[in-house]
Amino acid sequence: MTTKILLPEDRIPKQWYNIIPDMPGPLAPVINPRTLQPVTPDDLLPIFPLSLIEQEVSQERWIDIPDEIREIYQLWRPTPLYRARRLEKALGTPAHIYYKHEGVSPAGSHKPNSAIPQAWYNKQAGIRRLATETGAGQWGSSLALACSFFGMECTVYMVKVSFTQKPYRKSMMQLWGAEVIASPSEFTNAGRSILAHDPDNLGSLGIAISEAVEDAATHEDTNYALGSVLNHVCLHQTVIGQEAKAQMEIAGDYPDVVIACCGGGSNFAGLSFPFIADRASGKKVRCLAVEPASCPTLTKGVYAFDYGDTAKMAPIAMMYTLGHDFMPPGIHAGGLRYHGESPLVSQLCHAGEIEAKAYSQNACFEAAVLFARSEGIVPAPESSHAIRAAIDEAVMAKEEGREKTILFGLSGHGQVDMAAYDAYLSGALEDYEYPEEKIREALDRLPKVSL
Ligand SMILES: Cc1ncc(COP(=O)(O)O)c(C=O)c1O
Repeated sequence: MTTKILLPEDRIPKQWYNIIPDMPGPLAPVINPRTLQPVTPDDLLPIFPLSLIEQEVSQERWIDIPDEIREIYQLWRPTPLYRARRLEKALGTPAHIYYKHEGVSPAGSHKPNSAIPQAWYNKQAGIRRLATETGAGQWGSSLALACSFFGMECTVYMVKVSFTQKPYRKSMMQLWGAEVIASPSEFTNAGRSILAHDPDNLGSLGIAISEAVEDAATHEDTNYALGSVLNHVCLHQTVIGQEAKAQMEIAGDYPDVVIACCGGGSNFAGLSFPFIADRASGKKVRCLAVEPASCPTLTKGVYAFDYGDTAKMAPIAMMYTLGHDFMPPGIHAGGLRYHGESPLVSQLCHAGEIEAKAYSQNACFEAAVLFARSEGIVPAPESSHAIRAAIDEAVMAKEEGREKTILFGLSGHGQVDMAAYDAYLSGALEDYEYPEEKIREALDRLPKVSL
């Protein structure tokens, strides 16, 4: 009757799993936003180190994790896999529910899995400062942590709505030595031009990315780090799924369904890609990406070329998108408010290899409260989307009277998200309608790429 399935530190993966050679077809090219032609490594060198550009396009299935990075991973990895026995009991379900708890990292989420390697590779390339965006504050705090480990400076453009909703995330970033700027800001051309039209703009990940990319592109000693979406970020996160597979094996179980919340897609990728790889050896596993109904990229967006950011400075990628200037409502799962999606996750979704589902925030908080009252852990609002879907799968198993093994990603804890819980518990949380009209308008402004 084990509850926590633990691995020793020498079982931290020695390699990251790169899904690119196993994708269902060739990847669409990434496009330079100025020339509308495929990007070259030279286009990306002003903001990324060559080592990460190489990882972005690598065809190698396995990529070695440098020892120094594994040593830092040892601070919190391997993360525990839990059998959610008390949640199963509360639901009266025959399903076996497991969750991989990434909230035990120093920053409280899966994000340091990529922040540490990104800072390390930049340090190796002689970069002094990293600029980045953050939504919920989880990525910004993870990069602040990573930069402090390697003696680098860090500037974080934090989406304004989260800056006010989550003052303690800002404090964490400052504690680890980062400079935190509410976005849109007066510090960049991108921020100034948005504020000129809309002084009360709440910000979005797309705008914050524009500001951070501009900062990096205009400073020789500064590079840009992105917390999700890109192939190399998905790659770094595969330590999650690799460990989970080993832990499921110890438990003597294998998931029928793997569930994770999806913002830019790296959390979902990290847990699910190593399981998707198992399909080659005949395993049947469903993978379900869960997103907010107010920012329904995979479920309501279009699969098209679009800019990665609002100011059209970041590369154009083929992905599910709601339009680069789509402004999602200020929901409490700030880390899921991104207009686009990882090109890898998008392509898998388009090919029918994975499923996607959207939930409104009250339904997710209801699931989070049940989880907290049975398992004890306060989940991040983002992670509550995965919990909602896992509970629904477990209830379905009960109704159908059949056993089912469910694995979901608890991508972070929510102990710095108490304002969100206060709002939910006092009945003040609004569910936003899917803003169909606004999305249609935003889609009219997609770039015209003809190759
Ligand atoms: C706790 C948590 N879970 C999930 C996500 C979404 O992650 P991704 O962009 O990797 O999909 C975030 C993003 O900030 C987050 O903070």
